[in-house]
Amino acid sequence: MPTEDTELTHVGPDTPCGEYMRRFWQPVCFSDELQDLPLKVRILGEDLVAFRDQSGEVGLLELHCPHRGTSLEFGLVGQKGIRCCYHGWLFNCDGAILETPGEPADSTLKDRLFHGAYPVHEAFGLVFAYLGPPDEKPAFPVYDSLVRQGFRVMPGQKWSYPCNWLQIMENTMDPAHTAFLHTIVSGAVFTDEFGVLPGLDFVETPIGMIYVATRRVGDNVWARMVEGILPNLQQVAPLTETGRREHPFSGPMMTRWLVPIDDTNTMFIELRHLSETEDNPPWWIDRNQMMPGQIAMAGYEESQRHPGDYEAQVSQRPIAIHGLEHLSETDRGVSMFRNQVRRGIRAVRDGKEPAGLVREEGVVTATYCNNTVQRLPAPAEEAADKKMMREAGMRLAKGYLAHPPLLAAAE
Ligand code: FES
Ligand SMILES: [Fe+2]
Repeated sequence: MPTEDTELTHVGPDTPCGEYMRRFWQPVCFSDELQDLPLKVRILGEDLVAFRDQSGEVGLLELHCPHRGTSLEFGLVGQKGIRCCYHGWLFNCDGAILETPGEPADSTLKDRLFHGAYPVHEAFGLVFAYLGPPDEKPAFPVYDSLVRQGFRVMPGQKWSYPCNWLQIMENTMDPAHTAFLHTIVSGAVFTDEFGVLPGLDFVETPIGMIYVATRRVGDNVWARMVEGILPNLQQVAPLTETGRREHPFSGPMMTRWLVPIDDTNTMFIELRHLSETEDNPPWWIDRNQMMPGQIAMAGYEESQRHPGDYEAQVSQRPIAIHGLEHLSETDRGVSMFRNQVRRGIRAVRDGKEPAGLVREEGVVTATYCNNTVQRLPAPAEEAADKKMMREAGMRLAKGYLAHPPLLAAAE
């Protein structure tokens, strides 16, 4: 009986994929979740506590107090650091032990110990952490889509699926499912035009990959490019697209990290892109609303009648078993993404630099997610049309790779 591919799916400390994931800044929570109380978080199989002390500094510490193990989620956030509720040991945001109140005045205990702490970085309303080796810490990546003129980003939703991170990321590179799963489920957000199975191509980028899905809409070709950024970031092009109006590179509507909580649970945490010059969908501006089809349906029968992404991906098993799959033509993107992740894991294992890491501070990184609609009347033959559209899509994608449209504007 085949088992899961542990190299690609296990994320705990000292696993190959866990080491790889730890080389990248990972979002832990939204900034505004850190109010007066500490926040228990679990990522990459590690239990941690996040808090903002009264001086405004954010700390991310090992959850359990080094004294006798009480969870710091019950700690007292103070002017400086966090104090364990049990015997009052006080920890600074960097893990230094500032006070051990029950000890004799001349005790050196606190100077001999240090509590586990990770570096954090706040940006775009998110708290990011770096859990890797200190001397390998990369620059914080700034993607062009997040600093785009005429747009702003706002924190969206956070939720989790009880399954492995990889099968969720793979969904990003599996656009065939929008024509099936999402036309059954929801006409509410996804436009009718999504119901047509597109021509499909997949292209590697310097930081991951995109799919290029081409569809005919009247005299137009609609090229949709959704992006997987290594290792666990996805950018989704606007779902309100109809393909009826010609327009250039749209950029993404959403940037979303899929952070492994552990091997069999994954957190989604998203940023939404809002235009400052055009109307945004009202439900998209409302942070409490989320895209339909994303979370479990209310009740088992409803899940059976209207399955969405949650039902499809979680039911692939807690960790999908690749050895039991029968990959088909539409899975070329899934295979390409698995290969990219494997290359990254092995690069780290071999002491090399994985693709997608940013080393230079302040450099803006190009991204490629967009919808583009161009006039391209159809030839009489349907097969010729499909070929022509795919060629048009690939031409666009290659043009964007050569001259990233958002990068020039961001710099
Ligand atoms: S267990 Fe935390 S101070 Fe004693
Ligand atoms: Fe989906």
